[in-house]
Amino acid sequence: MTTATTMRDEAAAVSPCPEQPRRVTILGSTGSIGQSTVDLLLRNRDAFTVEALTANRNAALLAEQARALGARFAAVVDPAEYPALKDALAGTGIAVGSGRAALVEAAERPADWVMAGIVGAAGLEPTLAAVRQGRMVAFANKEVLVSAGSLFMREVAAHGATLLPVDSEHNAIWQCFDFTRVEGIEKITLTCSGGPFREHSSDQMRDATPAEAVAHPTWRMGAKISVDSATLMNKGLELIEAFHLFQLPDDRIDIVIHPQSIIHGLVTYCDGSVLAHLGSPDMRTPIAYALGWPGRATAPTKRLDLAEIGRLTFEEPDPRRFPALRLAREALRRGGGSPTVLNAANETAVHAFLEGRIGFLDIAATVERTLDRIPAVNLDSLDDVYNLDNAARALAAELVAARGLSRVAE
Ligand SMILES: NC(=O)c1ccc[n+]([C@@H]2O[C@H](COP(=O)([O-])OP(=O)(O)OC[C@H]3O[C@@H](n4cnc5c(N)ncnc54)[C@H](OP(=O)(O)O)[C@@H]3O)[C@@H](O)[C@H]2O)c1
Repeated sequence: MTTATTMRDEAAAVSPCPEQPRRVTILGSTGSIGQSTVDLLLRNRDAFTVEALTANRNAALLAEQARALGARFAAVVDPAEYPALKDALAGTGIAVGSGRAALVEAAERPADWVMAGIVGAAGLEPTLAAVRQGRMVAFANKEVLVSAGSLFMREVAAHGATLLPVDSEHNAIWQCFDFTRVEGIEKITLTCSGGPFREHSSDQMRDATPAEAVAHPTWRMGAKISVDSATLMNKGLELIEAFHLFQLPDDRIDIVIHPQSIIHGLVTYCDGSVLAHLGSPDMRTPIAYALGWPGRATAPTKRLDLAEIGRLTFEEPDPRRFPALRLAREALRRGGGSPTVLNAANETAVHAFLEGRIGFLDIAATVERTLDRIPAVNLDSLDDVYNLDNAARALAAELVAARGLSRVAE
């Protein structure tokens, strides 16, 4: 069963029931995606109840959100933060937990709709737990799909879960994609802002600081995805995500730079028609679409004023200055565990860059060297995914440590 089929069939089967609020869980509620989701829930109190919220370490914000939304359960992964969470929620009747087991418990508790809003492959276990309960999973945590790929999609199909794409580009394509006549679709196009270094030379990027890399020109996001947007690895991860979500070969998935971030995705049909989705660059629009689906929920985002915007521009990505996009496409073509390796090496390198241990250009160089050294093995089980992910992280960490600040890319 494909995701396309799943979404179409579910749309027909699920009828919105205004008398029954939708039960919502947010994995990663304290992050950028999580906070945008919380904001929408607070504005639509009658339409939703909140089952569980999770964070990695930010117990203070988690407790504040749990109180504001009347959640039933709050889980913080870091056990050192458990006492703070427990104290902050004492007397509220909100159950609390900590550790990876509590994260999985949050994902498994009864809910109609689960936001997968954790960053990185750390989201795989809890997102899988929600999938295995057959939930509607609002899917932001793209590294999960890059890392576990078709094995993850197999679990989605096996458990009758539904993935609702939240990444703005995939959400846009979802809204334009005719799931009933897929044979009429020629290609899809993901747009890309180009990030903060779109016009920088490689020499300028070599000296880029973490603060410069996370200063995205159009979107406000967490640190990791902001760095991915600066290297264009984010678009590479999205290419792999689109391959799995829309079941199209990679030569029918285009990427175009569009600095204004107004058009988010396009679907080209066999008669030359192109359907595009436009909106202000605010994640509350795609999140609201997933929250309300198959209906629509309201979002307070700035409405588009095309005359005010004036000009929409487009350009080809430059593979020489931004090798990460090429690496992602190659990993997808090579298949097997290559996307798992790509993702694990990238997470390791981005982390090292944010800590000032390597330079900006070293990120893609570390990913490339890790990919070169680990053969494209087949993945037969999720254990294979976890093992390969660990091996790739270990090798990437060695490369980072061996080079230190000498800068792999020079
Ligand atoms: N931000 C966006 O606009 C945007 C757009 C499209 C797609 N996405 C995707 O959505 C995901 C989340 O992005 P984000 O920008 O919201 O990230 P973020 O701001 O860094 O938030 C990440 C969330 O995950 C939690 N977390 C971090 N590490 C964890 C771990 N090891 N185990 C469990 N929880 C952990 C964090 O908790 P603490 O707060 O306690 O650290 C936080 O709640 C990413 O996959 C990203 O690519 C984001």
